[in-house]
Amino acid sequence: MDIALVWAQDRVGAIGRRGGIPWSVPEDMAHFKEATGTGAVIMGRKTWESLPERFRPLPGRRNIVLTRSSDYAADGAEVLRDLRAALDLVGGVASVIGGGEIYSAAMEHATRLRVTEIGVLVDGADAFAPAVDLATWEQATATDWQRSRTGTLYRFVDYRRIAYPSAGPR
Ligand SMILES: NC(=O)c1ccc[n+]([C@@H]2O[C@H](COP(=O)([O-])OP(=O)(O)OC[C@H]3O[C@@H](n4cnc5c(N)ncnc54)[C@H](OP(=O)(O)O)[C@@H]3O)[C@@H](O)[C@H]2O)c1
Repeated sequence: MDIALVWAQDRVGAIGRRGGIPWSVPEDMAHFKEATGTGAVIMGRKTWESLPERFRPLPGRRNIVLTRSSDYAADGAEVLRDLRAALDLVGGVASVIGGGEIYSAAMEHATRLRVTEIGVLVDGADAFAPAVDLATWEQATATDWQRSRTGTLYRFVDYRRIAYPSAGPR
């Protein structure tokens, strides 16, 4: 199993506002591309719809979109109604790329977290990263804070799982 949750958050865990990402850090887009590689990416229907049409499906990767609708179509992506079915389909190797609802559902399956911390505080955020419980996760690597060419501070922090919640892996 290699299920990486890949997200960028502000200083307190906000990841989105009104269907978009409320900062501009091009260096994080490059990091996202590297982190997701050529593997499968699993995302919620709202995140799929938030991608500019010219970037969807995300090129070179197997795009999987989760929805509870039975008749949703996403050109260039596979549409599934169940996260476990999606994880099975990709043989347990995937990047989960949001948004808030899907991170929260996928957290129990995750083996790695690849978090970009953005040095801002977003007003009016409406999507959030899951909490990272340090009894379950340990920091594997963290870069120093760097300044984007847009002026925004950011750093990359990766976590690896050290424990499953007491119910054990499911
Ligand atoms: N900063 C970041 O790294 C980052 C990354 C990704 C997204 N975002 C932002 O996050 C926001 C979107 O996040 P969100 O939480 O609102 O939406 P989301 O997680 O992208 O999508 C939610 C939708 O996914 C479907 N869904 C959720 N749980 C499901 C399950 N267990 N099984 C099957 N389908 C399921 C439902 O679709 P239906 O309603 O169709 O049933 C639900 O409405 C946007 O602002 C986006 O820009 C930020």
